[in-house]
Amino acid sequence: MGVRVFLPEAPAAPEPVEAPEAPEAQIEQAVPAPVRAERPVAPLPAAVIPIAARATGVDGMDWDALERTVSACTACKLCRGRTQTVFGVGDRQADWLVVGEAPGENEDLQGEPFVGQAGKLLDNMLRSLGVARGRGVYIANVLKCRPPGNRNPEPDEVAQCEPFLRRQVALIQPRIILAMGRFAVQSLLQSSDPIGRLRGRLHQYNGVPLVVTYHPAYLLRNLPDKAKAWADLCLARSVLQG
Ligand code: URA
Repeated sequence: MGVRVFLPEAPAAPEPVEAPEAPEAQIEQAVPAPVRAERPVAPLPAAVIPIAARATGVDGMDWDALERTVSACTACKLCRGRTQTVFGVGDRQADWLVVGEAPGENEDLQGEPFVGQAGKLLDNMLRSLGVARGRGVYIANVLKCRPPGNRNPEPDEVAQCEPFLRRQVALIQPRIILAMGRFAVQSLLQSSDPIGRLRGRLHQYNGVPLVVTYHPAYLLRNLPDKAKAWADLCLARSVLQG
């Protein structure tokens, strides 16, 4: 287990903005006082808060604040079709962080990542490494909401969700990230290269070593590539052993 540095507490919520008080002298005059706003100014809906400003707030959150913010998120259109958000699951002090793409139908219903067929394969892969859901590994997705009909994530959805995963990584401080599938890989590495060109060597995400591998759903359809995935897992494991 690596040394974990202390992380700052989440900043206090900003005070509501109030309209300035009218000077007393003015209130006593016979002429009507200027109209005062009676309610605090409502915060901007998440959808119109620029991504950079949202990211700044998310960057200081603790687990509770982050989880609450994700479950209330309306920053992109995916919020309209979801049953619930899928935050992530597992050991919050894990050495391993597995990052997938987005919740599918089962995950959307159960609120947990990788619970379908691909999840069973992922669990087997993890078992072969001596870890399991909740013991030594944390599992998260790039997107926290299900894209309708399991379509591919769109760039604005990935961009709006990115601060959440970045904060999860900062809180967990894993020793290795396993990025599974094209969307996880391309989003974490900010690359458009295919997996075949990126796998087989070590990358970094915000200072954390990252290994690229195939998505378990892809492996279910392309059994011969399981051998390559096993090589990727061994590369990742070698980082922890080194
Ligand atoms: N595929 C993913 O990438 N993530 C899940 O949670 C389920 C399927």
